Amino acid sequence: VLTAAHCFSGSVNSSDYQVHLGELTVTLSPHFSTVKRIIMYTGSPGPPGSSGDIALVQLSSPVALSSQVQPVCLPEASADFYPGMQCWVTGWGYTGEGEPLKPPYNLQEAKVSVVDVKTCSQAYNSPNGSLIQPDMLCARGPGDACQDDSGGPLVCQVAGTWQQAGVVSWGEGCGRPDRPGVYARVTAYVNWIHHHIPEAGGSGMQGLPWAPLLAALFWPSLFLLLVSGVLMAKYWLSSPSHAASEL
Ligand code: ARG
Repeated sequence: VLTAAHCFSGSVNSSDYQVHLGELTVTLSPHFSTVKRIIMYTGSPGPPGSSGDIALVQLSSPVALSSQVQPVCLPEASADFYPGMQCWVTGWGYTGEGEPLKPPYNLQEAKVSVVDVKTCSQAYNSPNGSLIQPDMLCARGPGDACQDDSGGPLVCQVAGTWQQAGVVSWGEGCGRPDRPGVYARVTAYVNWIHHHIPEAGGSGMQGLPWAPLLAALFWPSLFLLLVSGVLMAKYWLSSPSHAASEL
């Protein structure tokens, strides 16, 4: 499970967490997964608004997939979530500044569009430079993520597949026109994710790198086989014993 590192600022203890899968409302159902390991990019939860606000949660046992529980695709490291691209953010966080989500706590979604780095950097300009780092991605709606949405996904549909472009990280207020929502940029961390989860599927052809490797292994042996065949044939034809037997 991909989430934000700052979500663990209260506790980094795996046994303090439950992972509820396939639910649309916040309920304390008795069916949940327990956590085996929390892997934070920075090793520990950083201060709000810092770089590397991303974490992986390894569950204690494999998940049974269903129509309600499905994995999202990871983008390629080179994927481009271009400015203006339409994406969706979901969560059970505040529905506005100072407005917590009300019962029955239904999952909320907001359509947002990716904001170019320059515009976002200017929006968050501070006396000591911009607060926007290269591993952050900004998006604005009218809608936005808000308090308690952190760690949730920002997903974009690319050629028919949903890819996770961001992880809800921070923002000034919520839904302010001049203050885009800021996300951990997933493409900046896909290599780190693949390092920890080698079997994590990307969105592209994962098996392809094997083709040149197999070819490199098989072509020399095929060549050797051919050469030895030719040498054996030569020996056979010119061998004296063989010549004698033909007499
Ligand atoms: N840091 C907040 C949290 O821990 C998320 C804030 C997102 N804010 C925004 N305007 N997009 O839940």
